Amino acid sequence: MSDPVLTLKDAALSLDGNAGRVDILHGISMEVHKGESLGLIGPSGSGKSSLLMLMGGLERATGGTVTALGHDLGTMNEDALARFRRAHMGVVFQSFHLIPTMTALENVATPLELADDRDAYDKAAAELANVGLAARADHYPAQMSGGEQQRVALARAAAPRPDILLADEPTGNLDGANGAAIIDLLFGLRDRHGATLVLVTHSTTLASRCDRVIRLTDGRIAPFEKAAE
Ligand SMILES: Nc1ncnc2c1ncn2[C@@H]1O[C@H](COP(=O)(O)OP(=O)(O)OP(=O)(O)O)[C@@H](O)[C@H]1O
Ligand SMILES: [Mg+2]
Repeated sequence: MSDPVLTLKDAALSLDGNAGRVDILHGISMEVHKGESLGLIGPSGSGKSSLLMLMGGLERATGGTVTALGHDLGTMNEDALARFRRAHMGVVFQSFHLIPTMTALENVATPLELADDRDAYDKAAAELANVGLAARADHYPAQMSGGEQQRVALARAAAPRPDILLADEPTGNLDGANGAAIIDLLFGLRDRHGATLVLVTHSTTLASRCDRVIRLTDGRIAPFEKAAE
């Protein structure tokens, strides 16, 4: 098999909050290979979003290691990590994280502009059309529904054609037809561009499309890796 795109070895995450230290993830070891689609499932609070943040270098492991495309994310400095993320990763956050002062089109164009893409706005417009939002290009996030914002966030993450796409509940706010279109878009990135997908989901439809499913319980990988029934 090809070299893994993501490797976690005994990765742990603990955070210090005002209520003290919270141990969120424990002993997470796994590999994700190029072009693979991995579903992450598990109950609310089991650590799915936290694990996605570790994989995306948005949180640093407090134990063990997280390696992406051969780079140890724990030892990179902030600048190198930001550059690496920009060059290789797309992230769709559970709460979208759109920039409120930018229109849908500007939000999607931003990562392309940061990559000095001369066609940033044309590509952003095409990407918005792909998620069915051509007519919303000039709308601000506050003027859009949750499902529309979610699709803008996905268009923004997908536009630079990342090697690794990490998406937190990408169909969570969508009805059947829009959800199916987003699933096609995600797997299209994989099939046409070789992207590796890690998808947090409560949807059995989406989980069943993934090559492999990992279930988390209480911050650990549950002892089975079979697709959701
Ligand atoms: N910044 C933080 N400080 C302290 N605890 C946190 C922090 N972020 C998350 N947690 C805790 O870590 C645990 C895992 O949270 P996480 O958001 O990863 O769960 P999840 O599986 O994504 O849940 P959901 O399905 O509800 O989105 C929860 O118990 C949560 O309260
Ligand atoms: Mg979550």
